[in-house]
Amino acid sequence: MLRISLLRLLGRTGLSRGLCLRDSRLRHYSSCPLGARDDAQDARAYFTTPIFYVNAAPHIGHLYSALLADALCRYRRLRVPSAAATRFSTGTDEHGLKIQQAAATAGLAPAELCDQVSAQFQQLFREASISSTDFIRTTEARHRVAVQHFWGVLKARGLLYKGLYEGWYCASDECFLPEAKVTRQPGPSGDLCPVSLESGHPVSWTKEENYIFRLSQFREPLQRWLRGDPRAITPEPFHHAVLQWLEEELPDLSVSRRSSHLHWGIPVPGDDSQTIYVWLDALVNYLTVIGYPNAEFKSWWPTTSHIIGKDILKFHAIYWPALLLGAGMSPPHRIYVHSHWTVCGQKMSKSLGNVVDPRSCLDRYTVDGFRYFLLRQGVPHWDCDYYDEKVVKLLDSELADALGGLLNRCTAKRINPSGTYPAFCTTCFPSEPGLVGPSVRAQAEDYALEAVSSCVRQTNGFVQRHAPWKLNWQSPVDAPWLGTVLHVALECLRVFGTLLQPVTPSLADKLLSRLGVSATERGLGELYFLPRFHGHPCPFEGRRLGSETGLLFPRLDQSRAWLLKAHRT
Ligand code: MSP
Repeated sequence: MLRISLLRLLGRTGLSRGLCLRDSRLRHYSSCPLGARDDAQDARAYFTTPIFYVNAAPHIGHLYSALLADALCRYRRLRVPSAAATRFSTGTDEHGLKIQQAAATAGLAPAELCDQVSAQFQQLFREASISSTDFIRTTEARHRVAVQHFWGVLKARGLLYKGLYEGWYCASDECFLPEAKVTRQPGPSGDLCPVSLESGHPVSWTKEENYIFRLSQFREPLQRWLRGDPRAITPEPFHHAVLQWLEEELPDLSVSRRSSHLHWGIPVPGDDSQTIYVWLDALVNYLTVIGYPNAEFKSWWPTTSHIIGKDILKFHAIYWPALLLGAGMSPPHRIYVHSHWTVCGQKMSKSLGNVVDPRSCLDRYTVDGFRYFLLRQGVPHWDCDYYDEKVVKLLDSELADALGGLLNRCTAKRINPSGTYPAFCTTCFPSEPGLVGPSVRAQAEDYALEAVSSCVRQTNGFVQRHAPWKLNWQSPVDAPWLGTVLHVALECLRVFGTLLQPVTPSLADKLLSRLGVSATERGLGELYFLPRFHGHPCPFEGRRLGSETGLLFPRLDQSRAWLLKAHRT
């Protein structure tokens, strides 16, 4: 089934609901959670990925966050093509104890480590066709200005005070933890060491004077925000989880560290002895990108969609909206949450040596193939397991055989010798089911095209049922029906190609080019399915197909031997 999990994240949309022949306009897109208010041609939408820690090289989980944001953003551009209407930012999170410690371990200056790893993320995203419009590094001067300004606003509004903070801190997760979230595990020397219950990362006891944010004041405003906008956080279980967290007391939040302990960060304005907490620093990146504190940022805020993994939900759904409300701004419009990738059933980690390198996956499975796999297989509300065989099986069956095979069947010289988008014959395929007559060729099942067009395999079933290769172009009885079968299948392919653009941009381009669909005919606004069935003209009927472009997606298992060899090396 060509059900793409991204589309599940979007809600009830095209491929998952099926295209309705009886109502051929793809109206369902207007009901997707990106929302009617985003639909106006001049309305702006701003998509963000989390900014990525530069302590280690990127892995497939990072790429997944970026791909989801990319596909959502490309999908939005299909609906609202004006280039000025959509902005998409990503970047690297370069300050904090985690980076300071990673640099020390690597024997590098923190800035050197940041340059190296940030460049790796930028290269990966270029290779994976991430269509971001902005890349931010938190070590840039523009970001320091934004963070210090934001701090000043909170201070001026009386929301920061100095106090003694005492508790557990987890440097790997860059977060404070209450006693209840800490457990003991045997460390390398066998002694019991305190670790975070959730992540398993080591924690250490901290006691110092810090600046503290009056987070506790925001419990009710946050509840009001979430209750008033049930789609603020999707999928729903995450929205629910945040409301549950807010049932409990919300303690104030320490938002700085002693500079003697944490020097790699942005100093508190007017107090060099303190460095701003890395999460406050990192979250403000979303404002820096759009020009904050200059007024221009207001044209992009709050029409913002944050795409994040579930591990950073609390920071985005509690701390960030509270900080924004504190600074006199609105919370973001949407928070899309996804779950995690495990590898052969285990959490990915450097120490287990099972980190999957996304660049070698892009090489092995092609950019479109790997994008398709992650977006098709990943599910927003539960974790997904990665292993190579799964990728090969999925891509071979869905892209190479089902989609590629269908295209081949409808365009091959033997079946379609004129190389055109053939005419649809309303006598062979009347719009009323149940009509009988010598020229009626459509069968009862063919009227279930809602299902046929909802999935590539079922379109293949339609073609298989009518076996166009057994029909004869020279026969006046067969020819109109043969053309009609190909016309319907090509219409299905055109719809699949259009809808696949956000997921597999090059493959969709290849498919649509082969069908002769021009660049201006690929938007959602242009997407009318099978207009001839409703007695409307079809702009493609009789048109020459585009030139041959070879296999749409080559089968991978033929190169299996190579794959296994590549793996062993
Ligand atoms: N720097 C913070 C985010 C700050 S945003 C203001 C951070 N960085 S991260 O590099 O650790 O994670 C970035 C993204 O990658 C998050 O969305 C996270 O959920 C995602 N992933 C990291 N590991 C993952 C998997 N194994 N699977 C899927 N995504 C996961 O958090």
